Amino acid sequence: MEYKHIPVMLKEVMDAINLKSGDRVIDCTLGGAGYTSVISKLVGDTGKVISFDLDNLAIENAKKIIKEKKLTNITLINDGFDNLKLGLSNIKEKSEFDAVVMDLGLSSAQLVDERRGFSFQKDTVLDMTFGGDGEDGNATQEIVNYTGERELEKIISQYGGEKFARRIAAGIVKARKIAEIKRTGELINILEDCIPKSYVNSSKIHFATRTFQALRIASNDELTRLQKVLPQALEVLKPGGRLVVVSFHSLEDRIVKQFFKEENRDCICPPEIPVCRCEHESKIKIITKKPIAASTSEIKNNPRSRSAKLRIGEKNRNKK
Ligand SMILES: C[S@@+](CC[C@H](N)C(=O)[O-])C[C@H]1O[C@@H](n2cnc3c(N)ncnc32)[C@H](O)[C@@H]1O
Repeated sequence: MEYKHIPVMLKEVMDAINLKSGDRVIDCTLGGAGYTSVISKLVGDTGKVISFDLDNLAIENAKKIIKEKKLTNITLINDGFDNLKLGLSNIKEKSEFDAVVMDLGLSSAQLVDERRGFSFQKDTVLDMTFGGDGEDGNATQEIVNYTGERELEKIISQYGGEKFARRIAAGIVKARKIAEIKRTGELINILEDCIPKSYVNSSKIHFATRTFQALRIASNDELTRLQKVLPQALEVLKPGGRLVVVSFHSLEDRIVKQFFKEENRDCICPPEIPVCRCEHESKIKIITKKPIAASTSEIKNNPRSRSAKLRIGEKNRNKK
């Protein structure tokens, strides 16, 4: 299968990390190797790129690109970026990186991969795990078939912002009593029965969009993984190194914003404590007070970029 993905905000990300020959970079989300290939060229033979992805499809595609383009400075790690430090422990470069980049969510290639179930456009195996290969019994099917009704409602409402979450959770629970839900088509039929017809016909977005987003986030534990990787990324950066995150929905962006804010402050004691007890020290300078959005022309060429938000933080230089 050809791996198709247009990198989002590539120029803005490269401007943010402003690389030079010999630099060392971690790309937490290899995807179609769009960022990784450009970074590899910019840092040259004396530099290094370490790229993570949960998805073997991305890793195998990158191996081909590396061979074709004769890139010699890339190390691929087929694991979650939340295992950043563990992944680095097996290789020579463990810290003092010039930049860490993350381009969250899924790639266009994953969306159209018919072995899995990220898309509501086709009837495929219900599997929205980034590292999955369409096996039955995957995390998405576990959530849909075995999560309690209230918890399911919470997932669909909180991660998807779906206003019909209660009806949808009830519909799923009713349907799964008859037979396990194993295909995207089965889930779509349930959603169509639960969501009012007037809404299905009038909404600008497909009626399954929000539920699919929610199940994808839950299947991959996306928010927890993001919370876990940010401190590790900051730790392995060298002073003055940059942490750049592109996110695609407000839940992710809020985590990044909050992390930057907290790591920017010297004291993180609750306001009711009169004298600082936390001994927390500011570790990061916030470069983007407001997130950067994709340009109008990029959005026109690549509609996927319309919800992208880019935030940049810079690890504090050593205090004299
Ligand atoms: C939007 S794509 C990245 C595209 C890439 N920047 C490019 O230019 O081609 C996101 C990739 O991150 C991977 N991914 C998402 N969450 C991950 C995680 N927690 N750990 C590792 N990889 C992850 C997905 O499998 C997907 O391949």
